[in-house]
Amino acid sequence: MSKLPIPMSSPDLTDAERQAVANVLDSPILSMGQNVKDFEQAFCDRTGAKHAIAVNSGTAGLHLCVRAAAIGEGDLVITTPFSFVASSNVMLFENAVPIFVDIDPKTGNIDPELVKDAVENIEKYLPRRGANLDAKIKAILPVDVFGQPANMDSIMAIAKEHNLTVIEDSCEALGAEYKGQPAGMLGDFGVFAFYPNKQMTTGEGGLVITNNDEDADYMRAMRNQGRAPGDTWLTHTHLGYNYRLDEMSAALGVVQVSRLDEMLFKREQVANWYESALEHVEGVKTQFVEESTSRMSWFVYVVRFDEKINRDELAQKLIAAGVPVRPYFAPIHLQPYMVSKFGYKVGDFPITEDIGNRSLALPFSGVMSKAQVKQVCKTIVEMLQK
Ligand SMILES: Cc1ncc(COP(=O)(O)O)c(C=O)c1O
Repeated sequence: MSKLPIPMSSPDLTDAERQAVANVLDSPILSMGQNVKDFEQAFCDRTGAKHAIAVNSGTAGLHLCVRAAAIGEGDLVITTPFSFVASSNVMLFENAVPIFVDIDPKTGNIDPELVKDAVENIEKYLPRRGANLDAKIKAILPVDVFGQPANMDSIMAIAKEHNLTVIEDSCEALGAEYKGQPAGMLGDFGVFAFYPNKQMTTGEGGLVITNNDEDADYMRAMRNQGRAPGDTWLTHTHLGYNYRLDEMSAALGVVQVSRLDEMLFKREQVANWYESALEHVEGVKTQFVEESTSRMSWFVYVVRFDEKINRDELAQKLIAAGVPVRPYFAPIHLQPYMVSKFGYKVGDFPITEDIGNRSLALPFSGVMSKAQVKQVCKTIVEMLQK
């Protein structure tokens, strides 16, 4: 059997998306038009949120939440080191300090027991340098890792008790549900991202949902160069950003979100193919899905290997055999800029590091065929036997 080409990820696009983008290009309005409004409305309809604010990346969306929550110089935010860097970087943009706590080894999501302990005993969790013991804890930023909601009931209970804002990073979990509730709707703010490997794409893009009117107005102003409601084009109430989503991206997004359930279903099917091919392979552990996850939204397909297996060597062999794979995640606290700013060391968050060292994201998308999945799994089994 000849080998099929296997990309790491692929967007799921149809002629409807192509036509929607072409229609924008045939119009004079390439920014700040109806498509952004329609895209936002589709998210309100889907999630039940009062407000949706489209932006040009998930990172921009998270940053606007940090600003809206008035997280500033020296403030502390409890979050996870097992994530994509953006979820912590948005604190650094404001000279605030991410306070890391380790994760639940089963799901990879932030451990709520440790969140509670950190809120109550912050001195145990401060980095070696770059944070002040007297600083105020302002917020919790959980991440819905790999498309599985964090343990939000516990996190919200802690937040309520201590009057903390919760920013739910649902950039990997659009369409997921926690006990029947949409991911992104569980905290004060929810953020989604639409990079081309995501469940749906706008090319680049992101979106914030919230039920708070004042915060929504502020975020709309801040994404648009600080123009508050009533400001003219050259009046800027705030020092803002250009975080606007353009009309081509929004038009693409309107079609993609209308197809979201179909696309999520296809991704789930691919995940199921992987699961049945790999669940009994010795040394390989597939994704654990928590009971509270009433709907998993498969973003990536990540497997964990036994300690005995040299993950990096295996990855190299797989890539050489035409199977692209990637370590996922690389712990945030060990990124060079984090080490130099806060003095983190190997061993600071052992569960994050262990899982980071033993995991690989396999090729994954909703347009993958069963034959491609079979080929990936067959290659993994062969390489493990060598
Ligand atoms: C958990 C998490 N947060 C934030 C982001 C940032 O999104 P973007 O790349 O759109 O800025 C990503 C993107 O992959 C992510 O996985």
